[in-house]
Amino acid sequence: MSPTTTDDRISTSEHPGRRHSHSNGNGNGKVNGRSQVSPPLPFISTRVSKNIGDVAIMERFARILADQYHAEHNPEGIINLGVAENALMYRELTEFINKTLTVDNFTCTYGSGPTGGAALRTALSGLFNTRFRPFTTVTPSQIVVSAGVTTLLESLAWTLADPEDGILVGRPFYSAFPNDFYARARVHTVAVGFHGSDPFAESCVGYYERALQEWNGRPLVPGKVRALVVVNPHNPLGECYSPEALKEIMRFCHRERIHFVCDEIYALSAYDNPRAEKSFTSALSIDTHGIIDPALVHVLYGMSKDFSANGFRLGAFVSQSNPSVLQGLGSISHFGWPSGLAEAAWTAILSDAAFLDSWITTNSQRLGENYTRATAILDSHGIKYHCKGNAALFLWLDLSPFLPAGYADAVTAERELARRLLEAGVFIAGGDEFRAETPGCFRVVFSMPWDWVQEGLNRVLAVCGVL
Ligand SMILES: Cc1ncc(COP(=O)(O)O)c(C=O)c1O
Repeated sequence: MSPTTTDDRISTSEHPGRRHSHSNGNGNGKVNGRSQVSPPLPFISTRVSKNIGDVAIMERFARILADQYHAEHNPEGIINLGVAENALMYRELTEFINKTLTVDNFTCTYGSGPTGGAALRTALSGLFNTRFRPFTTVTPSQIVVSAGVTTLLESLAWTLADPEDGILVGRPFYSAFPNDFYARARVHTVAVGFHGSDPFAESCVGYYERALQEWNGRPLVPGKVRALVVVNPHNPLGECYSPEALKEIMRFCHRERIHFVCDEIYALSAYDNPRAEKSFTSALSIDTHGIIDPALVHVLYGMSKDFSANGFRLGAFVSQSNPSVLQGLGSISHFGWPSGLAEAAWTAILSDAAFLDSWITTNSQRLGENYTRATAILDSHGIKYHCKGNAALFLWLDLSPFLPAGYADAVTAERELARRLLEAGVFIAGGDEFRAETPGCFRVVFSMPWDWVQEGLNRVLAVCGVL
């Protein structure tokens, strides 16, 4: 079986039959009782037409948002444990900002440019130098700030690859990668399967290698693999890569002259789990000598997760030895110009050493508490889950024993289980959305208020028939 497949949703949106559907009907509408032929739809680009189509996901979100659970006001509402947000620190964040943030005239201007103000880039270099143990000191000039890591992922696809090129990502992976790489840059996600072997082991490189050879060896098809993206700590598994595995992946990237991009957006969301064997190692901390050309190494970081601030829209890109990539990102940075207000907020947090210390410690404690309580519930009902996580916001459940019978295949059964869970008032994302290799896995975001997580898990257990 091939370890390499392009993303299903990419192939779907590439289907020639699927075109934009902001249709006003079939042209046979009636006005004043008279048949009327509608004018043809105003032109929109073929590019964007290909992106439009999968409205089901947007509809699902609209439904979840319109009927959100509230213990008192809407106890029958939907508990959202499907979106990667950390609600455990909202009080600290809002109190700090409401107390600290003052806006001056400078905040009202274009600031110091579209790649992030000097103050935030300096504060970020301080964060990297104190918390990420970089092998070489990170300087503000090695950082590009943008309006979220999503923007940076899209800009990176644009910068590192040409249309029809590919980016290797191991399964299961962050579900937005295919869209982030493809929607504008037209770069494919090359999904790499590990066929039951450990995706965090050094031996994972063999699977990346085969996937690259297969992709590059396709006859008469344009496009080569240009990069490999790793999420460390991992979304959706919550596990960290060892320094040895990171080095092995880097050696592979060096051999193939492809970029190594490490998305470290969950770097500081670590918690205690006695069953986890590894703690977070930043790619910045690796001595690249004899391993990889440092010009190929890039790191992503963001405010969304570790700082409970998905809505602030700030992300940072670090590249220590590749001015062309920094300039390339700079050349399109106007389109993801970070907000001065958001920059001021993150700068204030990062510049207050005592607050930052207590933030990281408290966040870690709360994540650990929720993880311990949630896994106790799962253990007591015999539900299996990926037990090596000690960072990020996720529990990766194995609900395969509870897939409903009578469906054409296990993926269809998984979608049906997801539908039944939503009907029962809990939203968790099915493994299919992460291109999981084995059907029946679901990702639970446990960084929500405990009563939500508890009630959400109870609803899952009820649907599975074990409560
Ligand atoms: C691995 C990973 N990268 C990037 C993002 C997007 O981050 P942002 O909110 O900064 O766009 C997410 C969000 O879930 C994520 O999990």
